[in-house]
Amino acid sequence: MFKIPLFLSNLKTKKIAQKVAYMQSTNSTNTAIYEMLLNDEVKIKDVLITEQQTDGKGRRGDKWLSSKNKSLTFSFIINSEELSINKLSLLIGISIIKGIQKAANIRCKLKWPNDIMYENKKLGGVLIEKKRTHYIIGIGLNVNDCIFDSSIKSLACSIYSITNNEISRELLLAEIFNSYEQIVNKDIAQIIKIWESFCNHMNTFVKFHHSKKIVNAKFSGLNKHGNAIMSINDNQEIFNSGIIEL
Ligand code: BTN
Repeated sequence: MFKIPLFLSNLKTKKIAQKVAYMQSTNSTNTAIYEMLLNDEVKIKDVLITEQQTDGKGRRGDKWLSSKNKSLTFSFIINSEELSINKLSLLIGISIIKGIQKAANIRCKLKWPNDIMYENKKLGGVLIEKKRTHYIIGIGLNVNDCIFDSSIKSLACSIYSITNNEISRELLLAEIFNSYEQIVNKDIAQIIKIWESFCNHMNTFVKFHHSKKIVNAKFSGLNKHGNAIMSINDNQEIFNSGIIEL
């Protein structure tokens, strides 16, 4: 069971994640936290964490599978006027990479925009949904997971599968938010620089899924707004969405 006092004792933030709501089970923390916000049960920047999601959502309508009591599945909400979606999206990825490095001493990498990767296997993902003037940020991380569904077995990894050690999910979550608050006020140019230093496919050829097509493209980094620069047939194109396959 996730121990909220242990999480709070490791948290050094002044604004984000000051309050944590906990559910044994829910359909999706993204869905549940928004309902709770509408019912005044949580506020902006509070966190909802669950041990088990019965209908976890991934990007592009995919399902998100996680292991009861082993993964981290949580969401929080911020006002959309506070940050641009590009900055937010990159910042979240960076905060997770830094948090994992602090709590587990492993260096994960980012696959654009914010998939958490270790040696080309996926350790975690981020789903950001916009509802009216809010961004709902949902994060799923494979932490102490040792068994993976057959549908993702060859593509997924967890901190446990990498290190053979169980780590404290409470410390990991606190370190993610500590990192978030340390960098949230940096400007987009600095965020882009840090993000590129963590990217695992800079200047390499990837398969790019966009507008129902798959093309071979070279990922050439991010432009000044944080969009992806792709070279496709020697033409540079800019994208703010799409899926990269390594
Ligand atoms: C992805 O496809 O990579 C994004 C996965 C996001 C999963 C998290 S788990 C917590 C939150 N609740 C959900 O239903 N999805 C996100």
